[in-house]
Amino acid sequence: MSSAGLKSAPAGALRGIVRAPGDKSISHRSMILGALASGTTTVEGLLEGDDVLATARAMQAFGARIEQEGVGRWRIEGNGGFQEPSDVIDCGNAGTGVRLIMGAAAGFAMCATFTGDASLRGRPMGRVLDPLARMGATWLGRDKGRLPLTLKGGALRGLNYTLPMASAQVKSAVLLAGLHAEGGVEVIEPEATRDHTERMLRAFGAEVIVEDRIVGDKTFRHIRLPEGQKLTGTHVAVPGDPSSAAFPLVAALLVPGSDVTVEGVMLNELRTGLFTTLQEMGADLVISNVRVASGEEVGDITARYSKLKGVVVPPERAPAMIDEYPILAVAAAFAEGETVMRGVGEMRVKESDRIALTANGLKACGVQVVEEPEGFIVTGTGQPPKGGATVVTHGDHRIAMSHLILGMAAQEAVSVDEPGMIATSFPGFSDLMRGLGANLSEA
Ligand code: S3P
Repeated sequence: MSSAGLKSAPAGALRGIVRAPGDKSISHRSMILGALASGTTTVEGLLEGDDVLATARAMQAFGARIEQEGVGRWRIEGNGGFQEPSDVIDCGNAGTGVRLIMGAAAGFAMCATFTGDASLRGRPMGRVLDPLARMGATWLGRDKGRLPLTLKGGALRGLNYTLPMASAQVKSAVLLAGLHAEGGVEVIEPEATRDHTERMLRAFGAEVIVEDRIVGDKTFRHIRLPEGQKLTGTHVAVPGDPSSAAFPLVAALLVPGSDVTVEGVMLNELRTGLFTTLQEMGADLVISNVRVASGEEVGDITARYSKLKGVVVPPERAPAMIDEYPILAVAAAFAEGETVMRGVGEMRVKESDRIALTANGLKACGVQVVEEPEGFIVTGTGQPPKGGATVVTHGDHRIAMSHLILGMAAQEAVSVDEPGMIATSFPGFSDLMRGLGANLSEA
């Protein structure tokens, strides 16, 4: 990790065609399901970011044989289950990694101890441990189930579980534990969240029954995994990550004269809330060449410089863009009028408190922001904000990338601390942005 900061100075027009890095959510899941399955899983387009590499090492510790065969190409030999690891599992910065792995590990009669970096050790794990404990797993950890903690699994009971928060990580942990639970599991979602685990379980041969039931004016998604599912290795083609594609695309919307295409972006509607919102703000965003790859819709997205206006983002859209609010807030800082983002309390328990850090970063750059307990409002003037600040990221990759994009179109350069953390989700970010014309240098 570099100790120097990274500075983004105002740039000329950004132009070019780039590929989105592999989707982080799908990359984690390909490693975990590959290790749980019997036989060979091959992966192409894997995101080789620090988070996913930590998950790959964890899967080796649980007994899978994993090899890199080329750039983005990996081979996993699964044993049809996990073996007890002989050392502590370090999941680095990855909430998705540790929560899904704990769910998967709970199905086996063994102990595993988990830890992570300072950010991960501060994040709530009770949301996963509560349902796992109801299924029969036991654990010992720090206050409120914070890492490091030791989990003991095996002999799980089935569970019918209504998610208390919109979290695909919690849903996935219960489903993965459910693979080895008597009677199977059912998860009920009051708000639908990303469905990559369900889709990938099916690709590995499991039966997953999904049904939307309407009660009053609400739709509840019921996801049922019957008892006794067997996973068999398969091929996974990882589509481009919409959460990463967001950065070059928003940069193109903000820097005058820009025209940028990101190819191969996953268009799963449970992930594309940002693009819908940007279009409502007046963004010139065109989706083309839509096709299906490995069960996910994929397309190319072209963004051209646009005059944006503020909007009210419907709170029910939050699960489809929960990681994209920091970069949306940057776009909102250039838009004319208020952009209201509410119902996003979950942002406070991500890699950092993203409501606070986005508000602080934007304020330091001269933007008007009002912070609320579960949301924030950004008011833009329709002109580039001042910039000229060094933004504190608390090691949060998305806070860093969002403010670097701001620096490309602001009046004065913006710097961020801890840019090394960008490699958790988007290792090629700086080179990709420089290739489009961005002016990034060590600060
Ligand atoms: C993810 C789910 C989301 C998201 C995270 C990836 C996943 O977290 O913020 O970056 O891959 O399931 P929550 O499930 O906690 O909302």
